[in-house]
Amino acid sequence: MSALTATHSVDLQPLHTFGLPARARELRLLTNQDDLMAFARVRQEGQPFLLLGEGSNTVFTSPQVDATIWKVALKGRRYLGCDGVHHHLRVWAGENWHHTVEWTVAMGWGGLENLALIPGCVGASPVQNIGAYGVELKDRVSAVHVFDLDVQKECIFNLDECEFAYRDSIFKHAAQGRYVITAVDFALPVQWQPVLGYGDVAQRVAELGKLTPLNLFKVISAIRTEKLPDPAVLGNSGSFFKNPIVFESKAQALVEQFPNIVNYPADHGQVKLAAGWLIEQCGLKGYVLGGVGVYSKQSLILVNLGKGQGAELRQLIEHVQAQVQARFGVLLEPEPNLIEM
Ligand code: FAD
Ligand code: EPU
Repeated sequence: MSALTATHSVDLQPLHTFGLPARARELRLLTNQDDLMAFARVRQEGQPFLLLGEGSNTVFTSPQVDATIWKVALKGRRYLGCDGVHHHLRVWAGENWHHTVEWTVAMGWGGLENLALIPGCVGASPVQNIGAYGVELKDRVSAVHVFDLDVQKECIFNLDECEFAYRDSIFKHAAQGRYVITAVDFALPVQWQPVLGYGDVAQRVAELGKLTPLNLFKVISAIRTEKLPDPAVLGNSGSFFKNPIVFESKAQALVEQFPNIVNYPADHGQVKLAAGWLIEQCGLKGYVLGGVGVYSKQSLILVNLGKGQGAELRQLIEHVQAQVQARFGVLLEPEPNLIEM
């Protein structure tokens, strides 16, 4: 389907992994340059719009979304060459993230294996600087290609310009709504350096025998499959809240009061707290509110128990935030993009 053959009254339930009931005015695909130009023209007319990848970090909490959904479907992967230090690759935005990781591992290019099994597409990966098991996207990216809807031209953000931080980038702030990410350039080290510091990752790779990108990929995939609910079975958006980052003085006060509080050093001398631990300590693990709830095996994940409604999810978010705030004096910030238009 091209941008010109649009569907009306679109069912959004299958288009986001939380799977709440919602409908949008229109769905259009971005598959090529013509579609991008058409998008730019429609945007200039002032019509409301929303960019969507695979919907694993987007939650439609209103039953009616008064906007056109532009789904990014630009495809392609290219090996750009090796400069002796890095393998350089370009992957277009509509490619599936996990399949891209699989491809790099199969080709023998290590570096992305800790990010295996993260749902979604390549184009969304810079938006929140996806991260898992000690690696963030920013560690492996050299540039992000975008289409500037204001001037209808391609341009490139270098690493610094992306302003990557924990679950954050310029694409969530100043650049939001103006640029469509069209492709991402990766630089994967020729001298592979495995990242093994998270939890029992090192031990589990050792049990598999040889330390290779493929074995690390297998271990990460296995851990994630054990720990995280499959959205095809139980609707969810992964971690629903960011792990809060607090000043050291606040962390020290919390450690004195709650000696078992799970915490890690963060940038600039600050401290990251495990939101899942905070939520569990409030007695909310497995908590149910109508058709939604806190996942019974991992409290940082909110789930759609089958018939969840947007209003129930909003109530649950407020409840979790209020409980954690009351007990620990910490505000939990939702990680997914909540659509209430
Ligand atoms: P979408 O939800 O479709 O879009 C996300 C945001 O990006 C939206 O604001 C959208 O407008 C914008 N966007 C999408 N495409 C473009 C584009 N081409 N140009 C500009 N803006 C765009 N995340 C992690 O970081 N680490 C994890 O370990 C992790 N685990 C997860 C596990 C599960 C089970 C689930 C369901 C989610 C998990 N996530 C994780 C969150 C999610 O997978 C990532 O944020 C992913 O990058 C979202 O991709 P998507 O294509 O589904 O994005
Ligand atoms: N914990 C609890 N109770 C819980 C859940 C967690 O006590 O119910 C404790 C665990 O025991 C552990 C700590 O919290 O000590 C951290 O838990 P876990 O390793 O499961 O990681 P997380 O902080 O819950 C983060 C990311 C995930 C990423 C994993 C692995 C965020 C918001 N989440 O989860 O990313 O996959 O680490 O790196 O940073 C996502 O962003 O959607 C996501 C899934």
